[in-house]
Amino acid sequence: MHTVLLFLHLAAVIVWVGGMFFAHFCLRPVVAEQLPPAQRLALMAAVLGRFFRVVGLAVVVIVFSGFARMGAVGFAQAPGHWHAMAGLGLLMAAIFAVIYLALFPKLQAAVAAQDWPAAGASLNSIRRLVAGNLLLGALTVAVATLGAGLVG
Ligand code: HEM
Repeated sequence: MHTVLLFLHLAAVIVWVGGMFFAHFCLRPVVAEQLPPAQRLALMAAVLGRFFRVVGLAVVVIVFSGFARMGAVGFAQAPGHWHAMAGLGLLMAAIFAVIYLALFPKLQAAVAAQDWPAAGASLNSIRRLVAGNLLLGALTVAVATLGAGLVG
């Protein structure tokens, strides 16, 4: 069971963090360079809609598998870097909730209304928070893997 939970945890982390890396560093710059605003914003809203649905599931899997493992070991006995990972993971999940539940519906509405300045502003806010979550994701992977030597 332990290995199954770890597999699910890591598979979901790879989808989430890898997807943010691809969206931020590969898709976004090329789309911004090659497409005019109307096409760029409609494309990004459609792509992010698909991605965020998968991330919603990934977040549930990460939090469930992570706490299931911590619970099995015992929260008091769990090493310090597991607690740090849980704190960072919950912060990332909260940021994702803001993106998906507050900002993304605004982007969708603005794209549907063909209000490109408003859509651009929403996408910009989403971009900043995704970049923040990508940084936190990288930090969390570092804490999860290197943390045993540093925190215990
Ligand atoms: C509420 C959130 C989270 C909790 C409670 C949690 C908990 C855990 C636990 C208990 C393990 C050890 C599993 C084992 O060895 O059996 C683990 C492993 C791991 N977690 Fe998390 N985690 C959370 C979020 C995250 C996030 C957001 C990331 C990355 C962005 C992450 C990355 C990792 C990695 C890379 C490992 C493997 C570490 C290793 O085996 O060396 N975790 N997590």
